[in-house]
Amino acid sequence: MKKNFFIAFEGIDGSGKSTQVKLLKEKLEATGLKVYTTCEPTDSPMGKMIRDIFSHRIEADHRTIAALFVADRLDHLLNKTNGILKMLEDGYTVITDRYYLSSYAYQSPYMDLNWVIQANSLSAGLLRPDLNVYIDILPEISIERLNKGRTSIELYETLDNLKNVRDKYFEIIELLKDEEQVFVIDGNKNPEAIAIGIWDKISSQFL
Ligand code: ADP
Ligand code: TYD
Repeated sequence: MKKNFFIAFEGIDGSGKSTQVKLLKEKLEATGLKVYTTCEPTDSPMGKMIRDIFSHRIEADHRTIAALFVADRLDHLLNKTNGILKMLEDGYTVITDRYYLSSYAYQSPYMDLNWVIQANSLSAGLLRPDLNVYIDILPEISIERLNKGRTSIELYETLDNLKNVRDKYFEIIELLKDEEQVFVIDGNKNPEAIAIGIWDKISSQFL
């Protein structure tokens, strides 16, 4: 019997995470695994509040946003109905579009990285991804893709901010290289080529 596992996709906005999550789910299901896909911010009331802040419907300080993500993530893990821990227990392989590395990269330009890491330590203690997949694109490409698909720009979706966030991702990947398994893949190829690169890594490591 194959053992189920937990994968987190990471990258700046528009890097192709949701496209790759879908492709990976199909490939894993074809091998007979049960797969549950999920994302952060979640659909919980906390996740909705975060989305309302990002779309400028309500206003909040960056520190409040950081704390909301901490709470949203704990609920994402611990929710008794469809929390990640429950789904893993039920035998699903779980793929999440964003997890705590997103908080480290997106919140740390505004506050102390150590605070962000500490504040998320309960989640990291409960469940570390078996693998983080970081899809790397340049912020310029991100903005180009977002402009095509969107009518409004969310809170963190400016070129300067995404440059900072990408730098932070690389800083964090280096800083946490002993604790976090991160597979970095070039996100500039076509989606199928990226999916093959991800599949090679995941099938050799887990199947
Ligand atoms: P994310 O979930 O990281 O925001 P998406 O998968 O939603 O990214 O992709 C953002 C946009 O870029 C979508 O319009 C999608 O069709 C497009 N896209 C995704 N992957 C690629 C790729 N490899 N090359 C070009 N465009 C892509
Ligand atoms: P998401 O819906 O994944 O956006 P996209 O598909 O464009 O990547 O995430 C929404 C925003 O939330 C995105 O700008 C990144 C931000 N975010 C944080 O700032 N901190 C976090 O911990 C997470 C999970 C997301």
